[in-house]
Amino acid sequence: MDRNIESETGGAGHVTRKAVLRAALAAGLTAPAVLMGVPALARTLTGSEEAPALTPTCDDGDDPTPPQMEGPYFKPNSPRRTSLVDASTPGTRLTVSGYVFGLACRPVAGALLDFWQADVNGAYDNTGFRFRGHQFTDASGAFRLSTIVPGLYPGRTRHIHVKVQAPGRPVLTTQLYFPGEPRNNTDSLFDPRLLMTVRDAGGAKEAAFDFVLNVPQDPGPSPTPTPTPTGTPGGTWAAGATYRPGDSVTYGGRGYACLQAHTAQAGWEPPNAPALWRLL
Ligand SMILES: [Fe+2]
Repeated sequence: MDRNIESETGGAGHVTRKAVLRAALAAGLTAPAVLMGVPALARTLTGSEEAPALTPTCDDGDDPTPPQMEGPYFKPNSPRRTSLVDASTPGTRLTVSGYVFGLACRPVAGALLDFWQADVNGAYDNTGFRFRGHQFTDASGAFRLSTIVPGLYPGRTRHIHVKVQAPGRPVLTTQLYFPGEPRNNTDSLFDPRLLMTVRDAGGAKEAAFDFVLNVPQDPGPSPTPTPTPTGTPGGTWAAGATYRPGDSVTYGGRGYACLQAHTAQAGWEPPNAPALWRLL
């Protein structure tokens, strides 16, 4: 079994519920239908003779996604964008796609993902924002990043940094790794639980990874609350308010300027969301 397959199946020869969920979501099934069928599907795919049992929690043994150190190269205020490349960017094209799940294996919509990585030469842009960008998961909890395969730099194996934050929850800081990299065996930070699945796609690479956040969820479907705008740009920050770049608010007695258009949510208070707010 190669390492790609190993990571996809949790390394124990069984297909994880996350993998089943991702396949079902990618097939266009609605989330509630997917989630109701997932435990039985996952058990079916283990090859076990046991009758399927309903297990409502995301307890594959590889959840939630483990944290890793931020390292020295994170910068706040990254641009909101899903592509870190343009036509002239050197390097092997790479897409990273997947889903953000909570503890009940239900997708988390509107989760903030802030990626940063080295360029093809293994260098980070510490003066500008090359190879830095944040985005939000869509209604199905999906994200997609267009970038390049990051270059190597001394002391580390190949990796991509990311911060992931569900609305109203703490930030998960972690790193994603590539299978089959020689330095995976010598980098003390490397964690096989953070291996992406990577496949070749016509000279490019397509990678997948699903995050599981420490987000309590009811196992059954529930309606997503619709934010009700209550705030006024220029006034006090308020969850549910829509802000545009340049809007200023006060929060905790301090002033902040909006960097990216967004609808505010609990957990994205200005001090907690450096990609969205700059302290004045
Ligand atoms: Fe790094």
